This record gives sequence, C-alpha cells and structure tokens, in this order.
Amino acid sequence: MNESAVTEIPKVKTLPDAQTVTEVTHWTDRLFSFRVSRPQSLRFRSGEFVMIGLMGDNGKPLLRAYSIASPNWDEELEFYSIKVPDGPLTSKLQHINVGDQIILRPKPVGTLVHDALLPGKRVWFLATGTGIAPFASLMRDPETYDKFDEVIMMHTCRTVEELEYGRQLVENLINDPLIGEMVDGKLKYYPTTTREEFHHMGRITDNLENGKVFKDLGLEPMNPETDRAMVCGSLAFNKDVMAVLEGFGLREGANSEPREYVVEKAFVGDGI
Ligand code: FAD
Ligand code: A2P
Repeated sequence: MNESAVTEIPKVKTLPDAQTVTEVTHWTDRLFSFRVSRPQSLRFRSGEFVMIGLMGDNGKPLLRAYSIASPNWDEELEFYSIKVPDGPLTSKLQHINVGDQIILRPKPVGTLVHDALLPGKRVWFLATGTGIAPFASLMRDPETYDKFDEVIMMHTCRTVEELEYGRQLVENLINDPLIGEMVDGKLKYYPTTTREEFHHMGRITDNLENGKVFKDLGLEPMNPETDRAMVCGSLAFNKDVMAVLEGFGLREGANSEPREYVVEKAFVGDGI
C-alpha cells in the first residue's frame, strides 16, 4: 500500500461555498462595501443578485440576497452593504476583515438585466440608498455603453456622505484608462440628497415629475420610444417611481417579456 494514501490530511475548517474577503471599506456608520474572491465557475449577468452570508450560531448558514456590485468581467466580487444594528446578518457581517470567509451561493438571479429591456437610446438607472449596488455593476459593464447612447444614473440618499460610494465609483470609472473612453460623454451622474444641503436636491420621483432633471442635464423628457429604465430602492420608492414611469408611457418588463423598464427591491421591509 502506498504510504501517502494513508497520510492523514490536516482538517482545515472551511465554510460551504466559502469565499475569502480581500478588501473592506467603511463609508459611514451605516454603510460599507467589501470584495471577495470569485468562484471560478460563477458566471452572472451584470445587475443580478446572489445569496451571501455567514455561519449562524446554530451552525446553519445565515444568508441574505445581495446584488453583485462588480461587473461580470471583474476577477473578484464586490458588494455594497447596509449595517442594520440588530440585523441577524449585518450586525455580524459589518465586522468582517480581509482574510475572513463568507458564504456565497453561486446561483445569480434577478430582473435588472439588459435582457429584460427592449433596445433603446437612453437608459435611466434609478436608485435610493444601497439600491445603487446593481448599477455599480451595470455602470462598469461595456454592454451598457454598447446598447445605449446615454446612461443616466440618478442616486438619492438622505445625506451627502451616503452618496460617497457612488460618487467615487463614477469618478474612478471616468478616469479609468480602459473604460473611461467608452463612458466619456455617455454616462450622466445625477446624485441628490433629501435631508442635507447639496448642489442638487430632491426625490427622484419629484425631479422626474417636475422636469428638473431633464432641465439640469439638458435632456428631452422620457419617451417610451427611446427611454428605458431600471429601478432599485425600497418598496415605497419602487412603487412611486413605477407610477411616474408609467405616466411617461413606459411599461414594466421581465426576463421572459422585455419591455421599457424593470424593477428590483433593494431590501424587504420599511428601512431603518
Ligand atoms: P434583515 O432582517 O434582513 O433586515 C432588517 C431590516 O433592515 C429590514 O426589514 C429593513 O427594514 C432594513 N434593511 C435591510 N436591508 C436594508 C438595506 N439594504 N437598506 C436599508 N434598510 C435595509 N442589502 C444590501 O445592503 N446590499 C445589497 O446589495 C442588497 N441587495 C438585495 C437584493 C435583493 C433582491 C433583496 C431582496 C435584498 C437585498 N438586500 C441588500 C437586503 C439584504 O438581503 C438584507 O436584508 C440586509 O443585508 C440586512 O440583513 P440583516 O439580516 O442584517 O437584516
Ligand atoms: P426622503 O428623505 O424625502 O424620505 P431611506 O433612507 O428612507 O431608505 O430613503 C433613501 C432616499 O430615498 C431618501 O432620500 C428618501 O427621501 C428617498 N425616498 C424614500 N421613499 C421614497 C419614495 N416613496 N419616493 C421617492 N423617494 C423616496
């Protein structure tokens, strides 16, 4: 008998579907982002979400839905997360460090994908809070700029510091030696606050309805022939934006039936 066959392999305690944390950035006391290794087999469409989490105290995985914030060409995966003080997952997840492991189920799904939209000229990404995560992926995907002449990213938060993750992402994108050229002139970023003084203010719904965003960016109002939209925010936000989009004549689409706009919940519940 070959001796090596009976040599005991040291038991390394690893989580099922474990991925290793490579970077953690805390943006505010309520928001952080992190990057993890990417399973080689994981293919996803920019805008999709996966289930991620940690091992719970009961020895069972504690998983939650998370939009993948990185584009599909990235070697790693990025996530942008809320910190819910008593949240079963994020009360723990917010303490992860580089080298730690998280669980990632490699089954991406979701409706915020190009396949669910009919071809058009302009695409509007409409997000509040952590709802910018799927657009952090889509804004960095060359397909977005192949498919549309103009990409408008509207992101609204209560305060200026809550916009910082998105602001830096857009700035880095524009200055990127590879993607910058593709994005140049096509990506229009329109961040607003609602509860702190900022150069642009107001809810996305209001800025679309009163025409302020069109005036500020020098754009024609939305038109179902040319405009497509993707929406990601709280339930209340999604519901109100959908009514505004329908008012412009856009209809909700799905993977199985592409139309003019698609919607995904940024989280379940009323928010914190
Ligand atoms: P939970 O018990 O899950 O939530 C407790 C309460 O906190 C909720 O009832 C709600 O009121 C509030 N809350 C939860 N998530 C948020 C949030 N993101 N923003 C504001 N309030 C919130 N969360 C992210 O941080 N980033 C993502 O990319 C993300 N993608 C998601 C995609 C989908 C399709 C869905 C359904 C949810 C997504 N979420 C995302 C929410 C996420 O699944 C968890 O709810 C969140 O991580 C909190 O987990 P928890 O166990 O700590 O608390
Ligand atoms: P506001 O400050 O006027 O409530 P939250 O932090 O509560 O998740 O909200 C994130 C951002 O989304 C805030 O700027 C908030 O504006 C805005 N918002 C919340 N609900 C709606 C809604 N129903 N329609 C439009 N914007 C909303």
